[in-house]
Amino acid sequence: MRKLAAGNWKMNGVENSLAEIDALIAAHPAPGCDVLICPPATLLSRLSDRASGSAIATGGQDCHQNASGAHTGDISAGMIADAGGSHVILGHSERRADHGESDALVNAKSLAAWTAGLTAVICVGETLAEREAGQTIAIVGGQLAGSVPDGATSANTVIAYEPVWAIGTGKVPTLEEIGAVHDDIRARLTARFGEDANGIRILYGGSVKPSNAAEIFAVPNVDGALVGGASLKAADFGGIIAALEQA
Ligand code: 13P
Repeated sequence: MRKLAAGNWKMNGVENSLAEIDALIAAHPAPGCDVLICPPATLLSRLSDRASGSAIATGGQDCHQNASGAHTGDISAGMIADAGGSHVILGHSERRADHGESDALVNAKSLAAWTAGLTAVICVGETLAEREAGQTIAIVGGQLAGSVPDGATSANTVIAYEPVWAIGTGKVPTLEEIGAVHDDIRARLTARFGEDANGIRILYGGSVKPSNAAEIFAVPNVDGALVGGASLKAADFGGIIAALEQA
């Protein structure tokens, strides 16, 4: 399985930020892992053009569940593909919290992504209160069951485990805690989707930095990372790519 370093720029980035892609391509012309950048929708087309011919894939951060229509402000999966994207992040905890996205909605969006030929990067993760209540495995398992549609394959789906309390906080679960959740996700995926699910990449996300990436990537069933803050600068993201290449 090729591992995946994915960057989620969230609501960051304007024209000037495209220079980071040039720097990333220059530093990692032939990376030993897959590399994906998901910029804000306004930059996707420009970033895709800039990355074309390189090893860097691009994607969106969300899509609507419908293919087109009267949905002011939304974008469809087909529009992401049209703008050069190959992936779309779905069900990120910030969208679940800020926009009230349910597992059922994330499921519908994932189907829309597949229909447009995109790979869905489906996010799951518990809050701090849920972890402290000992509910992590149950919460993540429930999100997985509800958010991932029937028909998931290693080609059309990536799972990102992002504990809500680890996002942007500098706090990271212990390696044992990460391993326990990733092992449970793998077991649920293979139970539901069979042997092919051993090839579904399971990313860890939440305060991944060049300084902690190598130890996280050494955990079994961690097949890469979904990176927020540290994906904004080529030097930081490059350090994470380098750690994944050696994992
Ligand atoms: P940080 O890497 O900034 O903690 O964000 C993680 C994340 O939410 C990626 O989707």
